[in-house]
Amino acid sequence: MARREDRLQKLQSELAPLTKNIEIIVCDVSDFDNLQQKMRELLDVDMVILNAGISLGHSLEITPFAEFKRLYDVNVLSNHAILEVLLPKFLEKKSGKIVFISSLASLFSMPSSKVYSSSKRALNAYAEGLRYKYEPHGIKVINILPGFIKSELTYKNKFYMPFLLDTISGAKAIKKAIDRDKKFYAFPTRFYFLITLFKTLPPFLKQKIIKTLFH
Ligand SMILES: NC(=O)c1ccc[n+]([C@@H]2O[C@H](COP(=O)([O-])OP(=O)(O)OC[C@H]3O[C@@H](n4cnc5c(N)ncnc54)[C@H](OP(=O)(O)O)[C@@H]3O)[C@@H](O)[C@H]2O)c1
Repeated sequence: MARREDRLQKLQSELAPLTKNIEIIVCDVSDFDNLQQKMRELLDVDMVILNAGISLGHSLEITPFAEFKRLYDVNVLSNHAILEVLLPKFLEKKSGKIVFISSLASLFSMPSSKVYSSSKRALNAYAEGLRYKYEPHGIKVINILPGFIKSELTYKNKFYMPFLLDTISGAKAIKKAIDRDKKFYAFPTRFYFLITLFKTLPPFLKQKIIKTLFH
């Protein structure tokens, strides 16, 4: 599911030698009524990968409200629009997998990416609560926090992206985590470790480092 039909069709034909059972859905996930209608039309769902996400680029300016809302519609609210329809189906059959694509950016918030980071942190909290509630009912909740991966989203980044992964390696790491039912998977490990370390620093030191990086 995505907005650009031509890209979906290309993917469908690329995957055709592996399986014919690929249906594509053209939908803007921020058009919530249409999105929920499309979800209701699905007959059976084993797993949903909540991947659609946007960034506003990196800016130190005050974020216009409309941009903030657009990002939250796609990165946060669309996920619940989908799950409001799918959760009852999962509950009924006592199985189902929900995969969130969060981000390492959810763990720390840079001055230039605070809106994106906050949206992904919201996802972490939502995923955690869903897991406590629905795991006893046979529903798996997987939260994946990737670092930088080459994609259209990161292509426009003008700054140095530490531990940048190529697209295939990133996708493989995500697939492996899903196959293994990892509840929480943050990668690359070295980047995750550095972020965890940064978070343990005293506030004045963190402020000093950020000031050096952004001025
Ligand atoms: N790349 C990274 O370094 C990185 C790191 C951490 C987390 N992530 C997360 O990983 C996910 C995928 O990112 P990506 O890097 O692959 O970005 P991307 O190359 O820009 O791909 C985004 C995907 O979401 C779809 N999408 C965007 N807005 C949509 C909308 N309104 N309705 C329906 N589909 C929409 C896009 O298709 P259409 O444009 O055709 O709709 C595209 O398939 C995002 O949630 C992102 O936040 C990425």
